[in-house]
Amino acid sequence: MSTSNKFLYVLALIVLFSAGLLLAKYTPWTQQSAASKGYANLGGDFTLESLAGEVKLEDYRGKLVLIYFGFTSCPDVCPTALSYIAASMRALTPDLEAQIQPIFVSVDPKRDTLDNLAKYSAYFHPRMLGVTGSEGQIDQVVKNYGAYYSFIPLEGSALGYTVDHTSRIYLIGQEGQLISTIAHGASVDEITALLKSHL
Ligand code: NI
Repeated sequence: MSTSNKFLYVLALIVLFSAGLLLAKYTPWTQQSAASKGYANLGGDFTLESLAGEVKLEDYRGKLVLIYFGFTSCPDVCPTALSYIAASMRALTPDLEAQIQPIFVSVDPKRDTLDNLAKYSAYFHPRMLGVTGSEGQIDQVVKNYGAYYSFIPLEGSALGYTVDHTSRIYLIGQEGQLISTIAHGASVDEITALLKSHL
């Protein structure tokens, strides 16, 4: 490398570094935070059906929304997660609890009627909404949230199939943005603390 080429090379590095600093400085903090957790392109509004009618995520602006994907005949994982959601809400003062909307999204609409879904959800918490939709609607929400589900045939079982699904709880902020996901295995205390930190 000649001296002038070396100079250009160092100059180019300085320009790139400065551009990086500027970009970091002017990207809003919230975006950086979301991006660093990998949620920048996840989440968003949706419309699904409950027994009481259409449920739109945008109906709950101003509240924290907890979303869980599952199915009512789930033997273990769904009941645990839904009871943890309810318990962490009950650990709050009534005023704070009122600011949280739990939503259970069934990915198994063939077996989960709106009636069953409403009863099942209310069993965990009186305000928990049980929602589902067409396969197309469900697949869109699942895709938007980076979740997954798949039907697994069960040989010799009256149920016919089970459903493998995401076990994370999704926390949606007051402006409808995906804030965080809560791993299966988080304690009620941890979930309560997370909710408090966003209220
Ligand atoms: Ni489940």
